[in-house]
Amino acid sequence: MDEQDVLAGAAFDTLAVRAGTRRTQEGEHSEAIFATSSYVFANAAEAAARFAGEQPGNVYSRYTNPTVRMFEERIAALEGGEDACATASGMAAILATCMAHLRAGDHVVCSRDVFGTTVNLFGKVLARFGVETTFVPLTDLAAWEAALRPNTRLLFLESPSNPLCEVADLAAVAALARRQGALFVVDNCFCTPALQRPLALGADLVVHSATKYLDGQGRCLGGVVVGPRALLEEVRVFLRTAGPSLSPFNAWVFLKGLETLRLRMEAHSANALALARWLTEQPEVERVHYAGLPDHPGHELAARQQRAFGGVLSFEVRGGRAEAWRVIDQTRLLSLTANLGDAKTTIVHPATTTHGRLTEEERRAAGIGQNLIRIAVGLEDVADICLDLRRALDAL
Ligand SMILES: Cc1ncc(COP(=O)(O)O)c(C=O)c1O
Repeated sequence: MDEQDVLAGAAFDTLAVRAGTRRTQEGEHSEAIFATSSYVFANAAEAAARFAGEQPGNVYSRYTNPTVRMFEERIAALEGGEDACATASGMAAILATCMAHLRAGDHVVCSRDVFGTTVNLFGKVLARFGVETTFVPLTDLAAWEAALRPNTRLLFLESPSNPLCEVADLAAVAALARRQGALFVVDNCFCTPALQRPLALGADLVVHSATKYLDGQGRCLGGVVVGPRALLEEVRVFLRTAGPSLSPFNAWVFLKGLETLRLRMEAHSANALALARWLTEQPEVERVHYAGLPDHPGHELAARQQRAFGGVLSFEVRGGRAEAWRVIDQTRLLSLTANLGDAKTTIVHPATTTHGRLTEEERRAAGIGQNLIRIAVGLEDVADICLDLRRALDAL
């Protein structure tokens, strides 16, 4: 019996450290990075059999790579999915899912509150190929239902949302999708499987930007699609054909990232909760958006469906863009960058960066004002994060 055989039924933390590991004859303890684009065959017959798919084994790293495979098996185990397909970025994971499961004439219902590039992918890119998308407010179940059409094939959302931390009822949207015979796809980037497992709540597929918390230290781009093998078959065909496959080095970084995922997500969440509470007490702060606060509209749902509230929050300063920019510019410890899911705390002004391409009206509809600041809380001591923000607020 090898290490993988004893993992059936193992707990999350054990899977995070051990699932997917396959050692070579060298006996390396840490997983190897297979930095190779192609593989050697023993003879011409073996080459022919591998190319024909009659014999299992590697052919070319756009198709399969042992390090990438280890990452796929580990994240599949953590999400509670049958299998996973790794991709070159989070956007490639979403694109591959759509290319595998949509065709011209299909209709998609997507949360209005997803990552801006995802909005563009559905609203602009896929629209050119005859796939129409209706955008609905994340938490308005009646709007999801009203948007359904006979040709609706896919429902897509992120929960909690960025940057207002709104929370979708995943089981309820899953029930709608099931009734419709459509696929329900959840971008689980903000929670990761350490805090939320959408497949267990009825989602058909989970996608990730591994670039965020799966890495955890802001080093690599990558993505992954997780779910039943039958739904991943076409995803894999698209990836091998179109080419956005994950590099083995990046896969190795994510494998290492997963080993500490739960510990990190709990620490991010604890820091974010402490910071959110502190922000509510600052006179220059008008409003704090974090589902961990009891007065947040998504608090009870998040408490039910997530293990903790995650590392991202946003707040509104009294004033407008000038005041928000002043606070951001006066911070010294926090990093001014749009990325999140890093050990280092990041700060950004959504209205002029991540959501800058929306019209003012779209931004208003999404609740993203000029006075809003987003913080992706890292792993520094929260007292130092508060001190940096207090200094910045003093400049107002
Ligand atoms: C929720 C979410 N999904 C998807 C993406 C896209 O991921 P990537 O940048 O790895 O392509 C991002 C990136 O910020 C994101 O925040």
